Amino acid sequence: MSTDVSTLIDRYVRDIPDYPQPGVVFKDITPLLSHPTALRTAIDALAEPLLGSEIDLVAGLEARGFIFAAPVAVRLGAGFVPLRKAGKLPAETLAESYDLEYGTATVEMHADAVPPGSRVLIVDDVLATGGTGRAAVDLIRRAGGTVVGLSVLLELGFLKGREKLADVELRALATV
Ligand code: PRP
Repeated sequence: MSTDVSTLIDRYVRDIPDYPQPGVVFKDITPLLSHPTALRTAIDALAEPLLGSEIDLVAGLEARGFIFAAPVAVRLGAGFVPLRKAGKLPAETLAESYDLEYGTATVEMHADAVPPGSRVLIVDDVLATGGTGRAAVDLIRRAGGTVVGLSVLLELGFLKGREKLADVELRALATV
């Protein structure tokens, strides 16, 4: 019998207290990544609701979002767009700054990565405060793309990131 994806996430995403700073409980996805069934089940579950939808591009957020976004893009017959931390992309970029659960950051995208009118799914591993997802949505819209949705493995519901994304179809495989 196959195991439900939320059960696998519960089993293979572990809590690391006080990382990267005191008071933060870090969600460590590496046990899930190294478990073949959990990894495949998570990728299948992210892609499955979008099969048959018109999606041109899947945008993934550096670094952990890349791990899921690229295989989801392949499943959906779409291309992949990296949304990277500041200073990593070589050509002209668009940038959005945002607040993290711990600290601040800037996410960048190549200015020509999303042709106007493209239909884009955003994929990340975790939705925490929602700042990263919000920045990703705003970047894609600034480029003229349509955000089809934002899909994550795990939503930290107590941080209320969903409230920053009320205008987006947000899907989480599991919520804690
Ligand atoms: C984590 C996670 C999400 C983001 C969620 O990334 O992978 O991208 O934080 O947080 P938010 O909803 O509060 O914005 P992080 O910036 O730690 O980068 P990493 O993937 O490179 O570890």
